[in-house]
Amino acid sequence: MTDFKIAPSILSADFARLGEEVEAVLSAGADIVHFDVMDNHYVPNLTIGPMVCKALRNYGIEAPIDAHLMVKPVDRMIGDFIEAGATYITFHPEASDHIDRSLQMIRDGGCKSGLVFNPATPLHFLDHVMDKVDMILLMSVNPGFGGQKFIPGTLDKLRQVRKLIDASGREIRLEVDGGVGIGNIREIAEAGADTFVAGSAIFNTDDYRATIDKMRAELAL
Ligand code: DX5
Ligand code: ZN
Repeated sequence: MTDFKIAPSILSADFARLGEEVEAVLSAGADIVHFDVMDNHYVPNLTIGPMVCKALRNYGIEAPIDAHLMVKPVDRMIGDFIEAGATYITFHPEASDHIDRSLQMIRDGGCKSGLVFNPATPLHFLDHVMDKVDMILLMSVNPGFGGQKFIPGTLDKLRQVRKLIDASGREIRLEVDGGVGIGNIREIAEAGADTFVAGSAIFNTDDYRATIDKMRAELAL
């Protein structure tokens, strides 16, 4: 059976109570903390950086932190997030001049590495680095904001990446990010994803546990 992981995106959390919010989703059954880093340059929004990641570690959060870097250039932030205690560090290939080097920096820092594909970013960026990624993240919305609608074409792209991963024989997580919720998580899993980012679908509900339980029930069907 696939080892499905639920990764709430804290972009939709109440930032004034971030530590409590992260504790709440983790005790409600979340597996991974998805941490969206936006720079108002690569994407048209500005969020949180390594200091906040470090603050969550200092607060006592021990769960994996999945730092999704939507920043350009990306390399300096990689070092900072390694220092800040990130578990996964993923970046967009368009944001790096030397993709192989950036991936290597992440692993050399003891973190898990990943590449992120926007809806229109071609998969050929994976061609020569399948041995250097621990995660492939497919964006199912254009990056920059929470609460957008899932782009259905992502399902085909997921199927393609699932084939690539299976053919590689490697252990690579396939994550999907944007517009994921109870209503579509099952078809997304059927298309090959094993790690599900959900921001508004979790944080905009009153009962995080009930929402995550419903997502897991869909995955168990
Ligand atoms: C978008 C971010 C997502 C976002 C997802 O650029 O990368 O992680 O928070 O939010 P929802 O789940 O609300 O679409
Ligand atoms: Zn994200």
